Amino acid sequence: MNVFPLVLALALVTPTAVECRRDVFRGLRKTVGNCPYQRPAVNCQQGLFLSEHEEECFEDEDCETSLKCCSRGCDMKCVAPVNYSEWCKVPVDLGMVFEPYKTVLGNITRVVRKMSVSKKSTHIALRTIERESELLLKFDGRQTPNKVKRIIESITPKQPSRKIIRPLISALELAKDMFNETNGRRPEAIKVLLVFTDGMLGEDEEEHRLEAASRALKDSGILVQSINIPEMEDTVDLMNLVEIASSDVYVWNEVDNEVLTQLKKLERAPCNYL
Ligand SMILES: *[C@@H]1O[C@H](CO)[C@@H](O)[C@H](O)[C@H]1NC(C)=O
Ligand SMILES: *[C@@H]1O[C@H](CO)[C@@H](O)[C@H](O)[C@H]1NC(C)=O
Ligand SMILES: *[C@@H]1O[C@H](CO)[C@@H](O)[C@H](O)[C@H]1NC(C)=O
Repeated sequence: MNVFPLVLALALVTPTAVECRRDVFRGLRKTVGNCPYQRPAVNCQQGLFLSEHEEECFEDEDCETSLKCCSRGCDMKCVAPVNYSEWCKVPVDLGMVFEPYKTVLGNITRVVRKMSVSKKSTHIALRTIERESELLLKFDGRQTPNKVKRIIESITPKQPSRKIIRPLISALELAKDMFNETNGRRPEAIKVLLVFTDGMLGEDEEEHRLEAASRALKDSGILVQSINIPEMEDTVDLMNLVEIASSDVYVWNEVDNEVLTQLKKLERAPCNYL
């Protein structure tokens, strides 16, 4: 676990345009090759409160010379490296469900701008959180950044108001369908869902429905991340944001550079597993 801040710090100083660098760590013995790519381990209990790891290694130096220290399952293990010199891009199917406030729409546009929306790379799906949740965009190979931006611009922003939790739960239930292959999701793509919400207060029985809806998403292999929106301070329920996300490391207070960088890294996942 201790290596992650270091990996992240190094990743942040690496220009994103650099393709497939294998030599960012200097000084320590590095085993040649790449870690076998693994989809984000969405069911691992990795986070501040939950970490319970059995790490076999922290650096390649901890392994036999031919092996690399790689993330496998939920832990770091010594494994045989593979050669990813050609393959640096993975398709990402990125769904976003959101309360359609002006600031949220602005931030969704920032996410879209950061990603490489194209036939081969990232596809976007959009669904609103409101009483009548609307599927505004399905995953589709014909998307371009401008087309997606125009759809976001065409959404009429709502005024923040006091809400109950039910529209959020329904939107999460419907989000699972958004990732159905009949709705354009690619089998080979990484599935990521961003939920923009202030969490919202609810009754006890609704908490169970929220838990069930979130669980269903995570169990179907979707990496779920929740992003707080600070519109109505008095309705914020951060524990609901934690409940929704795949892990507490995927609960964010705003769309900052860290969120954008980790989303971008998913697009280049094989090369990021150095
Ligand atoms: C990895 O790919 C590079 C470039 O294609 C090649 O030169 C190298 O021999 C490969 N290494 C292995 C172990 O296959
Ligand atoms: C993004 O959201 C923050 C609040 O989290 C807000 O202050 C900011 O204006 C938003 N950005 C855009 C471009 O709308
Ligand atoms: C996908 O959607 C179809 C039609 O809406 C439905 O019959 C099917 O059960 C869904 N599959 C999954 C895996 O949810």
